[in-house]
Amino acid sequence: MEKEIIIHKHPIGIFDSGVGGLSVLKEIKKILPCESINYFADSGNCPYGSKPKDEALSLARKNVEFLLKLNCKLIVIACNTVTAVAIDSFRSKYKVPFVGMEPALKPAAMQTKSKKIGILATENTFNGRLFKQTFEKYTRGIEVFVQPGYGLVELVEKGEQNSEKAQSLLEKYLLPMLAKKVDTIVLGCTHYPFLENMIKKVTKNSVTIIDSANAVAAQTKRLLIEFDLMSNDAIDPEFIFYTTGEKTIAKKFLSFEKGSPYRFEQL
Ligand code: DGL
Repeated sequence: MEKEIIIHKHPIGIFDSGVGGLSVLKEIKKILPCESINYFADSGNCPYGSKPKDEALSLARKNVEFLLKLNCKLIVIACNTVTAVAIDSFRSKYKVPFVGMEPALKPAAMQTKSKKIGILATENTFNGRLFKQTFEKYTRGIEVFVQPGYGLVELVEKGEQNSEKAQSLLEKYLLPMLAKKVDTIVLGCTHYPFLENMIKKVTKNSVTIIDSANAVAAQTKRLLIEFDLMSNDAIDPEFIFYTTGEKTIAKKFLSFEKGSPYRFEQL
C-alpha cells in the first residue's frame, strides 16, 4: 500500500533527442495536470535522425537509464526516431511501461480528399519496421510522398524556426508535394510542429497539418490508468527540464507555459 502511494507520486519521464518532444509534453500536461514530469533533452547530441542506428540506440538507452535513476514510473519516447530504432529493445529490457510514437499515417489517410499525402520525418524513422508496417496497413489506394526533413531539426534546436533558411528548406521539401496535389501533410518528427507557422506560410494554408502529439498524450493517460500509476490531485506536480545542450533555448520553447514553473538543469 505504502509502496503504491509512492509510485503514484513519481514523475513521468519524457525524452527526445532535443527540444522537439516539448510539442508532446505540452499535450500531456493538458490532459494530465496532476503529473510531475522530468523532461530530458539530449540537445548536445542532436540530431539522431541520420545517425547510424546503433549510435542512436545507445544514446537513447542512456536517456532511459537517466530517467529510470530519477524513479520515473512511465517513459514517453517523445521522438519518432528513437521509437523507430529502440522501442522493441527497451520494452524487452526494462520493466517500466513505454509510450512510443510514429508518424500519424492513419488519421492522414482517413481524412485526405485528394488521396495524396506528404510526410516529413527523419531517415531513421522512414527506415524503421514500424513505419513500413503502418504504411502497408493504412495507405492502400493513397499516394504517399515521403521526404526526409534534412536540416530542419538543427534549425529548431537553434531557435531558428522562423528564419529564411527554414523557409527555403520547407519550400524545397513541400512545394513539390503541393505540385502533386497533396492536401495533407504529416509531421513525423516532434521538432516539426515548431515549424507549423512557416509550413502554413509556405503552403499558403492549403493543406491540413497532422502530428501525433495528441494521440501520444491520450496513450500516456491510458497506460497510467491501465498500470494504476495515475497521480492524484492531492499532489503538487513538479517539472524538471534536463538538457545536455543550452538551457537558454529550452527556456524559450517553454514560454507557452505561463509563469514558467520549470526547474532547469544543464548536464
Ligand atoms: N524529434 C525527433 C523525432 O521525432 C528526432 C530529431 C532528430 O534527432 O533527428 O524524430
